Amino acid sequence: MIGKSLPQVTFKTRVRDEAIGGDNPFRWQDMTTEDYFKGKRVVLFSLPGAFTPTCSTFQLPDFEKLAGDFEAKGIDAIYCLSVNDAFVMNAWAKQQNLKNVQVIADGAGEFTRKMGMLVCKDNLGFGMRSWRYAAIVNDGVVEAWFEEPGYADNCETDPYGESAPQNVLEKLSAKAAKAA
Ligand code: BEZ
Repeated sequence: MIGKSLPQVTFKTRVRDEAIGGDNPFRWQDMTTEDYFKGKRVVLFSLPGAFTPTCSTFQLPDFEKLAGDFEAKGIDAIYCLSVNDAFVMNAWAKQQNLKNVQVIADGAGEFTRKMGMLVCKDNLGFGMRSWRYAAIVNDGVVEAWFEEPGYADNCETDPYGESAPQNVLEKLSAKAAKAA
């Protein structure tokens, strides 16, 4: 995966626009892969579902808490992607009180499919979702890759460790020390 250019897709986002007025001042806005990744060195992590226990209790809040450490290591942004629609991802971001991590809704799973990370989770009634992984992405190209072991459809377990922020940060620090 290292050296791979991210797939070029268009994400359907919901953004607040006060000009709309009323109780629900949101509109659709297209965002492309380039909009998110061009000219930046970012951490992307992708997980099986918004509001799920491991994602909500550990992975997302820990990335949020450690954002300053990532910034100190030269990371410009942290993106959390899931095969969920923009309404769900926005609601999750609000519930998690995110200030540092931006969510990316891959509602139709196109980005995840083109990354080769789409798995069937029908055993949980989820349909097609993302296998859990993280990556350091530099100007749209994968620089480092952190994939949970055992990629499979309808996996009975939910491995979590490789794509944890603590692990990504440790590898990022080791890489920086080696380069110095
Ligand atoms: C979890 O994050 O704990 C989880 C993810 C996918 C399915 C079930 C649980």
